[in-house]
Amino acid sequence: MFRQIPVRREVFGGGENLLVCGDVMELPEEIRALAGRVQCVYVDPPFMTGERFTRSRPFGTRGWKTGSPAPKYPAFEDRYEDETAYLELLNRLVSEARELLGQAGVFYLHLDWRMAAQARLACDRIFGKEGFLNEIIWAYESGGRSKRYFPRKHDGILLYAKSGKYKFNLTRVPLPRGSERKNHMARGVDEQGRPYARIVSGGKEYRYYDDDPVYPGDVWTDISHLQQRDPERTGYATQKPVRLLERLLLPVTNEGDWVVDLCCGSGTTLEAAQRLGCRFAGLDRNPEAVAVTLSRLKAENLTVICDTSLDQAALRIREDPTEGSFSLEGLEAEHPSFPENAAAADVIEAWETGSLEEGVFRAERRFCRSFRYPELTTTLRADPRAIDAVMVTDAAGRRRAYERKGS
Ligand SMILES: C[S@@+](CC[C@H](N)C(=O)[O-])C[C@H]1O[C@@H](n2cnc3c(N)ncnc32)[C@H](O)[C@@H]1O
Repeated sequence: MFRQIPVRREVFGGGENLLVCGDVMELPEEIRALAGRVQCVYVDPPFMTGERFTRSRPFGTRGWKTGSPAPKYPAFEDRYEDETAYLELLNRLVSEARELLGQAGVFYLHLDWRMAAQARLACDRIFGKEGFLNEIIWAYESGGRSKRYFPRKHDGILLYAKSGKYKFNLTRVPLPRGSERKNHMARGVDEQGRPYARIVSGGKEYRYYDDDPVYPGDVWTDISHLQQRDPERTGYATQKPVRLLERLLLPVTNEGDWVVDLCCGSGTTLEAAQRLGCRFAGLDRNPEAVAVTLSRLKAENLTVICDTSLDQAALRIREDPTEGSFSLEGLEAEHPSFPENAAAADVIEAWETGSLEEGVFRAERRFCRSFRYPELTTTLRADPRAIDAVMVTDAAGRRRAYERKGS
């Protein structure tokens, strides 16, 4: 028999990277402990749209196989009493980001037309005008198009450096030059068969090879928003593309550097940082954001700090000590967004087995549904006598911990 217990800390492997549920207005001590050591802080805060954002998520085996059912859950509210309340958050984000950075560190602040001007002033004040490096324009085509004014089709990403010793290597983001936009130049092919465009000026020939890299300027039109059916989509509203984060992180980090996102949402920054071999820490005040982020990360070398739910949802586990088997049959959890008569097995999205040491859940094995693995893996090969505790995430992103009774 397993009983539900409170757990705040779950550790995968060495547990160095961090995923924390908490509010930037009361920065958790685990994030504050990184002060002065972080190479890049990226923040994509609420834009003050006045909206209530939702998250849609495939439900159960059929949902993950066919895309339906995929109920909607509330994600986060982008509503503030007034501009002063919003600016309090913005100022805190910028100040905490600056504190976290090392001398070579840089800060990205991602916003749109609504608060861009106020953000620029806040950054100028907190980082100093001399800290300003770029205002990157990320332009896209998706979304509605107004006819009452020019359609608002870009976000602005401010880049500030903590000091003049900041790290920046543009050659880490080469783009193919291609043959476009040089129609005014003559074309040629050299002895090795490499095509180029050429221009003669002052009696001298300049060649621009099609396969030589070029480097992005501060207006980016080549990275689109995630399409509706993009496999990268997590269903979390406002999710940004990993390609965008990779382009932002590559020039300013090296493997092993710390990357922090103080409003990590679905975890795009953390996924990009993990792919690039950086160490990372993500913070979000929404526990669902933590569950979604965890679902897209490789759960290794990671500490998750987030209170588990204590609603006494019964976990159905069948144990056969003589056979050495351990099967998860389902979770008796309810949610207004779940389909009617939802099967107890379909309610489970992910689970881990592990052991409890002084209130810390040390995860050993993890299963998480995905489009690739839509069916719940219910049986563990592990010896049930060695299993002490189980962590379960339901389709609504609620995590619950269970320990063996009497252990
Ligand atoms: C625009 S979303 C981030 C999306 C993210 N970049 C992605 O790609 O998924 C903003 C996030 O900020 C979080 N947030 C809002 N206020 C916060 C606060 N005071 N502390 C921590 N997180 C906060 C919200 O819960 C939301 O997930």
